[in-house]
Amino acid sequence: MADHRVRGVGVVGLGIGTAHVRALRRLRDRFTVVAVCDPDESRSRPVAEHIGADVVTFDELVRRDDVDVVHVCTPPALHLEQCLAALAEGRSVVCEKPLVASLAEVDQLAEAEAAAAGRLMPVFQYRFGNGLQQVKALVDAGVAGPGRTSSVEVAWRRRPEYYAAPWRGRWATELGGVLLSQAVHALDMLTYVAGPPVRVFCRATTRVNDIEVEDCAAASLELADGSLATVSATLGSPEEITRHRFHFAAFSAESGTAPYTSSSLPWTITPDSDEAAAAMESVLGGWVERAEEWQGQFERWADALDAGTDPPVTLADARASLELLTALYRSSRTGEDVALPLDRSHPSYEGWLP
Ligand SMILES: NC(=O)c1ccc[n+]([C@@H]2O[C@H](COP(=O)([O-])OP(=O)(O)OC[C@H]3O[C@@H](n4cnc5c(N)ncnc54)[C@H](O)[C@@H]3O)[C@@H](O)[C@H]2O)c1
Repeated sequence: MADHRVRGVGVVGLGIGTAHVRALRRLRDRFTVVAVCDPDESRSRPVAEHIGADVVTFDELVRRDDVDVVHVCTPPALHLEQCLAALAEGRSVVCEKPLVASLAEVDQLAEAEAAAAGRLMPVFQYRFGNGLQQVKALVDAGVAGPGRTSSVEVAWRRRPEYYAAPWRGRWATELGGVLLSQAVHALDMLTYVAGPPVRVFCRATTRVNDIEVEDCAAASLELADGSLATVSATLGSPEEITRHRFHFAAFSAESGTAPYTSSSLPWTITPDSDEAAAAMESVLGGWVERAEEWQGQFERWADALDAGTDPPVTLADARASLELLTALYRSSRTGEDVALPLDRSHPSYEGWLP
């Protein structure tokens, strides 16, 4: 095993933050969780006792000399302030999705990161499934050929109990619904493989739960290479599935339908010809599976910190995601096509909230 520096971590917010703690503990030669913080001590105490970390306040956590990286796992409306505070104290930051509430805020964060000693990595852990990584490797190796169409289905089920957490379901605190909170991963997976959108149309509505934000959406996208994509997302599907299909000249690729592990193997990749099959084999032959989900992302992040290279998910990736979401919300409200990229003069630059 390589001799790595072990970085101290503080985890802020212990809902999904507990998944971060579990992933970090599988990477003991890279990270050690030294402190946790959550105003709900029934969440922070058991975790701290189990792993031998301290329960501290947020201000204490970001000032501790043994904290190299702060993991922000709090409700979305707190992310900007907590990321800025951690960067200002010289820490690196890992922040859950959605990173912030607008393009203006992500640009503010990028400026703060550029002036800070630490780096910031947004979370898109679904990227690191081995199935999606294989398709991405084929595209990056240039064997996919021109794109035709891609599609994403996110059909999940959220019942009223899910909205018991008071921040959920409201524009001011969740910042969005199925598009922003759930389909955000599938949208990122789509653009990660098929490229950035240049024009989108979206309809969004609330039909499943008694909430402010949307829980059903449908969208069509034109991508930069001229290929097309469709997105269907609902939180009202009794059978939960996620499915991705990518159609390129050289092959089609389809994920499995496990709702929360759709980027993992197995994927079905069907070549269009013997030549395409041979080209695929030259890329995927001898494929070595790597860790997935948060562990997969944090392991690559440790490598990037050691090497001084870009993190596996960058602020630019989070900006692209928020740009697409801004455009989808804009289209759903105006009933019009929205062209991307969105610059600082765009009417939704300061945010998509109604
Ligand atoms: N990447 C993923 O797949 C994934 C999955 C679930 C949630 N998330 C994201 O993670 C974030 C948290 O979601 P969740 O499901 O864990 O929510 P949650 O409500 O279950 O947990 C949030 C925790 O943050 C704590 N908290 C609130 N204010 C705080 C503060 N000022 N300082 C420290 N802790 C504070 C709360 O007490 C709570 O324990 C959201 O942005 C959500 O979108 C991401």
